[in-house]
Amino acid sequence: MTSEKSSIIIAIDGPAASGKGTLAKRLANFYGFAHLDTGILYRGVGYLVLAKGKEPRDEAAAAEVARNFSLEQFHEADIRTAEVARAASLVAAMPEVRAALLDFQRHFAHNPPAGFTGAVLDGRDIGTIVCPEALIKFYITASPEVRAERRWLELRLSSPGISVEQVLDDLKRRDARDSGRDAAPLRPAPEAELIDTSHLTADEVFARAQRLVDNRLKAA
Ligand code: DC
Repeated sequence: MTSEKSSIIIAIDGPAASGKGTLAKRLANFYGFAHLDTGILYRGVGYLVLAKGKEPRDEAAAAEVARNFSLEQFHEADIRTAEVARAASLVAAMPEVRAALLDFQRHFAHNPPAGFTGAVLDGRDIGTIVCPEALIKFYITASPEVRAERRWLELRLSSPGISVEQVLDDLKRRDARDSGRDAAPLRPAPEAELIDTSHLTADEVFARAQRLVDNRLKAA
């Protein structure tokens, strides 16, 4: 159960490789807040389903994994592959999987680890579903071409030979699944602050976001 300890929550949503993870880390670092990349949870479930030799489309298997989920069951390196990303986007469309992961996320937001006075969560439905009560919500986006280029720069180390075109195709398919699904589709919360990072550096995105958070903190 989520106990309502007072914690300042920053919600960040947006599509893959939009820059939301970079912003989330930097804001968490700057304000001394804990950070949770909620994509890790869906990737973890996808990875664990594959590791059991099951199909990611197998809803019963995915729900079972999600109900028994803990971060200790896998390593970061296990979940950063294109295969796991695909599995994650399939299991993320399953209402039972999302419901099982909801408490974990809300608990983290309201009860960040000792020493932290707030939490920054990034994902697809943080402002809309997980933490609608957040102090501030951001929706971070960028053009598909810019995002594919960024993702390709990361992926080419683990998947040599992969082309930008392949990454772009894959990204568009995942965008369509994340935005088109019935369960918690990727969508900006109506009151979200929109930042298009296509032509901004990470420093510029951070400066803009920090100004907005500071204003909100002053007004709170
Ligand atoms: O951000 P990412 O690529 O690590 O996310 C992996 C998948 O999980 C992606 O298809 C979207 C999904 N996801 C989600 O549905 N809800 C979240 N809060 C976070 C990620």
